[in-house]
Amino acid sequence: MSRYHEVYAHWQDDPEGFWAEAAAGIDWFTPPRRVFDPAAGVYGRWFTGAECNTCHNCIDRHVKAGRGDQPALIYDSPITGGTQRVITYAELLVEVSRFAAVLQGLGVGKGDRVVIYMPMVPEAVIAMLACARIGAVHSVVFGGFAANELATRIDDAKPKLVVSASCGIEPGRVIAYKPLLDEAIDIASHKPQKTVILQREQVTADLRDGRDFDWHELMEAAKRDGMMAECVPVAATDPLYILYTSGTTGQPKGVVRDNGGHMVALNWTMENIYGVKPGDVYWAASDIGWVVGHSYIVYGPLLAGCASIVFEGKPVGTPDAGVFWRVIAEHGVKVLFTAPTAFRAIKKEDPEGELIRQYDLSGFKALFLAGERADPDTVQWAEHHLRVPVIDHWWQTETAWAIAANPLGLGLLPSRYGSPGVPMPGYEVAILDDAGQPLAAGELGAICIKLPLPPGCLPTLWRNDQRFRESYLSRFPGYYETADAGFADADGYLFIMARTDDIINVAGHRLSTGGMEEVLAGHPDVAECAVLGIADDLKGQIPIGFIVLKAGVDRDPGGIEAECVGRIREKIGAVASLKVVITVARLPKTRSGKILRGTIRRIADGEAWTMPATIDDPAILDEITEALRARGLLRGA
Ligand code: COA
Ligand code: AMP
Repeated sequence: MSRYHEVYAHWQDDPEGFWAEAAAGIDWFTPPRRVFDPAAGVYGRWFTGAECNTCHNCIDRHVKAGRGDQPALIYDSPITGGTQRVITYAELLVEVSRFAAVLQGLGVGKGDRVVIYMPMVPEAVIAMLACARIGAVHSVVFGGFAANELATRIDDAKPKLVVSASCGIEPGRVIAYKPLLDEAIDIASHKPQKTVILQREQVTADLRDGRDFDWHELMEAAKRDGMMAECVPVAATDPLYILYTSGTTGQPKGVVRDNGGHMVALNWTMENIYGVKPGDVYWAASDIGWVVGHSYIVYGPLLAGCASIVFEGKPVGTPDAGVFWRVIAEHGVKVLFTAPTAFRAIKKEDPEGELIRQYDLSGFKALFLAGERADPDTVQWAEHHLRVPVIDHWWQTETAWAIAANPLGLGLLPSRYGSPGVPMPGYEVAILDDAGQPLAAGELGAICIKLPLPPGCLPTLWRNDQRFRESYLSRFPGYYETADAGFADADGYLFIMARTDDIINVAGHRLSTGGMEEVLAGHPDVAECAVLGIADDLKGQIPIGFIVLKAGVDRDPGGIEAECVGRIREKIGAVASLKVVITVARLPKTRSGKILRGTIRRIADGEAWTMPATIDDPAILDEITEALRARGLLRGA
């Protein structure tokens, strides 16, 4: 029997009482004066008056409670040929305290921002926790983003310091990070005063005197001098981090996370959603550059006293599609969390699950999926071969934890294919029509969350309350707009069908087609352009671009298309996965000039579509269909 309905009803009856109980799982230096203050912030703030420290709750308190010898981080790096390192809670305390002292020595204090641009190595986690320890605000930038994107984030966050590494490693290539960082600092108008660079053996970065410092040298010196930083008390409402996520333009949104509410919420999820206890091994196969990495590689597992796997590799090719099973068996992973795309990649390489059977997975209890829609085929394949519950759950960077799930810890409800489950306590989900009226079960509409958002969710965007209001709160007064469309069935199970904005989801990565259009429009030969996401068997969606050339351009369109592909890689990064740009004579538009991206997508995906009544010239859609056919991009054709 699941306790879900009872627990959800308890939250509905007494939301503040519910979160006050959950807050007992956290150490506070000063307890909250109020659980929720509706008058503070844009829509209210959680745990006002409290003082706390997230690093203390992630490390110190576990060491004090006698867990010092237990693994905190298990680094497993098949991409470097099998490097492994186990860091206990006691060792993590030393490393983090030392790096926190290094940061203080470089002039970083409470409230200062630190950008972290690093691959999946334990030092990245140490840097994040060290910031938390001294009340500095970290902003991690995913390693797959190019210099330009890094510069945009540097300009918005205005960091005092950047922590980076000499390189990241992708299959078959080593990516030198330092030149990208130097370029980003050149492009940015805000100039961070200092950088700390972790030199890796694959590439040695050149360090500029006075600005760039060597991680190992600083840590050695701190060790020699016995420098260790204590936890600095911060307000529960102070920012722990800023994480940039794609918005509808090339300017990403700086999602702010606070300290108190975030700890309370994530700690609650570990036991109640994921069903893990202190000492269990938990693995989120993601990257610290994404919210999944923040919440479930770093903060969630450590708050709960689990061991967290830091995996530097890919689901396939490092060295094979059995690597996930090897890691689970070797380190005793109880719960794995990843994106469906990783499973589609594994299924493609090992359709019969032969590699799965080579490992002892008896300790493995559940697979959680998120980041994109979990297609029933993939879920059923995983259920069949793994013989554990496969649980889809739905959330976004803004929320930091699941809006809807099937809570393993509370007892599983019957699952429904295609649904990420039911709303979690804290979230009152409503499906609204265009006029903001609630829709009946089964009717498709905008998925919204009644305010206030629960602890852990963003209180605002970094130094931009106005954009926060406009982006999320203005369309449906009293609600937070998720920008996902879908419906709820009669039993309250949610079904997430599409985004209502121009965000696409590529291999579980959230990308803005508007941002890509801005880059294509910057090509000197391009008059206008459109980027949209089409279905892809592996990545879920991939972007394709259409360009119309300026009058008088008589160059080979193929060359211009290749330059456009290159520009996206250079300005946004390889992670954008834009490989196809097609030159067309004109783009289909409404009479008011709006490009019909949705119609092009439906044509490419082989979905039923109707001629928009407002179309300017129907013949253009035939031209687009032909262009897609010529590139082999017409599904089912
Ligand atoms: N640094 C630099 N480049 C990176 C990078 C990083 N941290 N991460 C990815 N890239 C590059 C890749 O090398 C690839 O480059 P290429 O075009 O030269 O091949 C490009 O960005 C696209 O990467 P990705 O979308 O990850 O595709 P892939 O083909 O390398 O791998 C999967 C496909 C399915 C194996 C991969 O997407 C995966 O492991 N997904 C797991 C899902 C996940 O982690 N989601 C995060 C949210 S939970
Ligand atoms: P991100 O902020 O990168 O985590 O992306 C969040 C978006 O990814 C959501 O708004 C959804 O569009 C999509 N998403 C995440 N999880 C799921 C899921 N389980 N099912 C369907 N879509 C999802």
